[in-house]
Amino acid sequence: MKSVKLIFLFCLFCIFSFQVVFGQRNSIPEKVEKLLKKMTLAEKIGQLNQYSGNWEATGPITTNVGNKLDAVKRGEVGSILNIYGVEHTTVFQQAAMQSRLKIPLLFGQDVIHGFSITFPVPLAEAASWDMKAIEKSARVAATEAAASGVHWTFAPMVDIARDPRWGRVMEGAGEDPYLGSLIATARVHGFQGMGLGNLDAVMACAKHFTGYGDVIGGREYNSVDMSLHTLWEVYLPPFKAALDAGAATFMNSFNDLNGVPATGNKYLQRDILKGKWGFKGFVVSDWGSIGEMINHGYVKDSYEAAQVAINAGNDMDMESDSYLKNLAKLVADKKVSERVIDEAVRRILTKKYELGLFSDPYRYSDADREKRILNRKEHVEAARDVAKKSIVLLKNEHQVLPLSKNLNSIAIIGPMAKVKQELKGTWSLNVGNVNDIVSVYEGIQQQVGKTKLLYAKGCDVTDTSRAGFAEAYKIASQADVVVMAMGEQFDWTGEAKSRSNIHLPAIQEDLIKAVIATGKPLVVLLMAGRPMVFNYTADHAPAILYTWWLGNQAGNAIADVLFGNYNPAGKLPITFPRSEGQIPIYYNYFNTGRPAHDDVQTNYPPSYIDLSNTPRFAFGHGLSYTTFNYTNLQINKKNMKKKETITVTFNITNTGKYAGEEVAQFYLRQMVAQPLRPVKELKGFEKVMLEPNETKTITFTINSDKLSFYNEQLEKITQAGEFSLMVGSASDDIRLQDNFTLVD
Ligand code: BGC
Repeated sequence: MKSVKLIFLFCLFCIFSFQVVFGQRNSIPEKVEKLLKKMTLAEKIGQLNQYSGNWEATGPITTNVGNKLDAVKRGEVGSILNIYGVEHTTVFQQAAMQSRLKIPLLFGQDVIHGFSITFPVPLAEAASWDMKAIEKSARVAATEAAASGVHWTFAPMVDIARDPRWGRVMEGAGEDPYLGSLIATARVHGFQGMGLGNLDAVMACAKHFTGYGDVIGGREYNSVDMSLHTLWEVYLPPFKAALDAGAATFMNSFNDLNGVPATGNKYLQRDILKGKWGFKGFVVSDWGSIGEMINHGYVKDSYEAAQVAINAGNDMDMESDSYLKNLAKLVADKKVSERVIDEAVRRILTKKYELGLFSDPYRYSDADREKRILNRKEHVEAARDVAKKSIVLLKNEHQVLPLSKNLNSIAIIGPMAKVKQELKGTWSLNVGNVNDIVSVYEGIQQQVGKTKLLYAKGCDVTDTSRAGFAEAYKIASQADVVVMAMGEQFDWTGEAKSRSNIHLPAIQEDLIKAVIATGKPLVVLLMAGRPMVFNYTADHAPAILYTWWLGNQAGNAIADVLFGNYNPAGKLPITFPRSEGQIPIYYNYFNTGRPAHDDVQTNYPPSYIDLSNTPRFAFGHGLSYTTFNYTNLQINKKNMKKKETITVTFNITNTGKYAGEEVAQFYLRQMVAQPLRPVKELKGFEKVMLEPNETKTITFTINSDKLSFYNEQLEKITQAGEFSLMVGSASDDIRLQDNFTLVD
């Protein structure tokens, strides 16, 4: 009897809990509807309007709104960007609480790679191929940002980029849709944590929807002219992954796609995103991009711009004022239905409810919490961890690396050896103390005991003076080993930072040449937010580490790798060209009818007559201090039916003397298909840790999803036929190969 009673009580408890949890959740739509009914049209339009706060602007200010706090009080603003710090966000939220309906504001911010502790730029993190570390980076950024009053980050940028001239290549995950999709997922999970409503979660924003990474000529903001097939195969997958991971918001983009600006693109926003994909969050425009449709020549004025944007599915207007100024008249003129406006408002209010802002508009405004959470020790440790994992060992002849900690002396040379602020890269925030950033020099200093450090700057980043060469040569000659810290100017990547010339500045290659002449063992560190061209260095420097912009812990992470405390395992997430003339260059291209010969001498089309077709460093390339052997590839069947799977196994053995990680890469190619399939496509990888002489067996499973692609009607299909499967250490270093057939 007692147990029956207990079961009864337990059931009551379950019903009660279910109602508390799900009843609450289910009630959000009801609450939204109730509020919507109370709102005037003007108040609804206010929710669709986003202004930049009074300080840092991340785009051209074209609006003239006077005191923004007053606009908030009038209910004309749904969100503010570029305001962070509890002290500042609170002032704006207080203003919102003076509006008629007291609808809380959303605070948005570009939290791209860290908040107070700056993490490596996203392209660098992508080189880690380490989803846990990438998720952790976003988690830390979100925790700090949320503590500082931010509800919403305009990240991750999930634009695929095959063109390193484009400055924003640094903000994404590189060129590959598979890797890009996994990273999009990791970042969204990281930002949103256990879900909106938790105090350490910020809304993610998958951007820029879409095509932006393929601007013609790599020129910022340019047009995008892309087949829909390429759009679906290459550019959309990371967005779909972000959506599936629960991204609360999307941002559209500045570019036009095949003649239709993304901001006013109904096919992208209504048909694909909100239609086919069923996206429930809201879409924000890019900065001013609604108004910019006038410049595109797509609409004649801001009245038409607002009409096109809202009807195409753009919910919130970032900084163009087009909605605030025109939507009421557009409704009166019956050009925009109030239903369309309601739908946009509903989406935005839903997120505000989910964030818990209606229960407590100040829940992200706790100054003590902000103090407690920013710059925590574990945040610094996470930054160092992902930074060392992001470093790519491009070359290591004569095992120059790792360096011994017992050297008599090291010469540290180069314009990047002592920089600090620059190590943060662009799209970093003005939070945190510059003295907390660890320079290369300091990082090395902290890890050597009695070793004497000699320093010479040698040259500037771009200034052509050679006045410092002699000193650099002198200290290099005196040292056991030379470490040269070179690179691009830190702000040569980022928004509006496209470059036609992506060479390491000539003065720096000249300095490297001069120092190589000493014959000393030499390591070149290359810092940049994009792939650079550095042919002299690639041919002549014995060891090269690509260190990107690694953030606060750059110096420590670099020293960890230099001295072998950490054995580098990074792999390039993007192809490095030999010259700008090869761009766009990527590994997953189609074969031509006259496949290219690598031998320039044969001069046989369609190779260049003056350059090899091969890249300088291929997608997936990255060395280790140890070596790995791939053996014993086995597949459990040679014929696969659509609903079946194939299991692929192989062994990796660490054949060197250092413990280390290898990113084993798994590629597929369908040999004959219509339309064409790429010569190679990444379909899986595993990062595996091996002690010297240790062997591990890796397993990949092939299912029909991995074999599917879009046909000419843009339907996802599989086609029966032969597949080649390739396993290797890089896209150009395939170690094992076999084939199988997909049968009808
Ligand atoms: C960028 C966006 C960014 C926005 C807000 C725009 O210029 O393209 O990526 O989120 O500014 O700062």
